[in-house]
Amino acid sequence: MQKVVAIIPAAGSGKRMGEQVNKQFLEVGGETVLGRTLKAFEEAELINEIIVAAREDEIEQVNALADKLGLQKIRCVVSGGRERQDSIVEALKHTDEADGWILVHDGARPFVLSRELDQFVLRLKELNDPETNGGYISLITAVPSKDTIKRVSDGRVRETLDRTQLYNVQTPQGFRRDVLIRAYEHAAVSGYMGTDDASLVEHYGGIVEVHQGTYENIKITTPDDIYLGEAIIKKRGAMKCV
Ligand code: CTP
Ligand code: MG
Repeated sequence: MQKVVAIIPAAGSGKRMGEQVNKQFLEVGGETVLGRTLKAFEEAELINEIIVAAREDEIEQVNALADKLGLQKIRCVVSGGRERQDSIVEALKHTDEADGWILVHDGARPFVLSRELDQFVLRLKELNDPETNGGYISLITAVPSKDTIKRVSDGRVRETLDRTQLYNVQTPQGFRRDVLIRAYEHAAVSGYMGTDDASLVEHYGGIVEVHQGTYENIKITTPDDIYLGEAIIKKRGAMKCV
């Protein structure tokens, strides 16, 4: 059975949050951002193991967090790189052929639910099923853009894009491991830097499909997102059956 391994990049420095402490260790609803993210992966039935990329000086802190939460699925916490892409490269070094599938998910995206992760893995496997599609198809989570998006340069509007074709892209993003490795190797030799993992696959000529996500799957980026996160948790709490 080929494993499904989650790579969680958490080696950023959270500059846009502007806090002393790295944003992944800030609390939302009484739990750290990274802790909440890791718990969703721990609880997802179809995720086998987790590799976290952390800053060298925060590896101990991540290990302590994993211990505190009793996480069983952590394979290792690796030292990340300068850019997010470099952190993924470091994490990929700790995977091997038995790992058929890789899911990449930002450590700073804590509101993904374990059942959403399971649904995502099912869809990824279905797309690559040798019996039906037999494809080399990668999958990204995305939501339709709510805003009108214009292309602007030098302060002047150049084009209004057709909103029906525009999506805001999130994580998780899922790949056959062989596809992701080749895409990352190709990016390294061609000096390509992408803003997400799928863009490396696209650059390599691979096929990427979209899995509809939710607007709650926000990335904690600026201080406003902490307030938004609290509201998401409150709403979820209010919806719980008692
Ligand atoms: N990340 C990483 N390695 C890096 C940079 C980012 O693993 N060298 C991770 C972050 O920790 C985060 C995710 O990639 O979980 C998405 O990045 P982003 O939201 O940009 O986080 P930061 O880079 O930490 O924030 P900022 O850009 O504001 O400094
Ligand atoms: Mg960043």
